[in-house]
Amino acid sequence: MKLILYFGHTGTTEKAAYLLQQYLNQAEVLDGRVKHKIDYSKYDGIIFGINVRIGKLNKAFLKFYKKYKKQNLNLPCSAFVVAGDSNLRSTYMNLVRNILPEDSYVGFFGGEFNLTYAKGITKRILKNCIEKFQEQDLPLPQLIPSAIKDFAMHIVEYIEVHN
Ligand SMILES: Cc1cc2nc3c(=O)[nH]c(=O)nc-3n(C[C@H](O)[C@H](O)[C@H](O)COP(=O)(O)O)c2cc1C
Repeated sequence: MKLILYFGHTGTTEKAAYLLQQYLNQAEVLDGRVKHKIDYSKYDGIIFGINVRIGKLNKAFLKFYKKYKKQNLNLPCSAFVVAGDSNLRSTYMNLVRNILPEDSYVGFFGGEFNLTYAKGITKRILKNCIEKFQEQDLPLPQLIPSAIKDFAMHIVEYIEVHN
């Protein structure tokens, strides 16, 4: 079984984690920002879901990963990035590649301006972004279903090879 551990703010990374789960035979989804006692022996691979804000990877992920790495678990590792700006996909994927073990598989899932869970300043920023995009007749960012499906297919192969 795979563990999908997601780190997001306004629900898109969570949504992507559950969409990915549907493509994997057996996968458990957990919110990385909630403290869990994780029994890693249950899993044959770990998949991190990470959102981007102001050009940076989710801070809770960075903090979590520092501790995780110290445990030297040797679980096959992969990650997907959730971000609004698809033009910067390589930049964001490289941020993740620089942190995870060299042979980790990294994907980009796109992003959304999701107001469902957004509060305070985040909500204002997102509303502003939506307005700016609409003023310029630009399509709003979206999750990319084909990227999620491709990623799932790679993961299955990747974990089989590494076990
Ligand atoms: C405060 C804020 C800053 C953001 N900064 C970036 C950014 O630098 N680059 C980008 O591609 N998307 C950026 N986004 C868009 C998010 O990556 C996008 O909304 C993503 O779907 C958020 O995932 P979440 O809903 O799981 O938090 C930003 C969004 C917010 C609210």
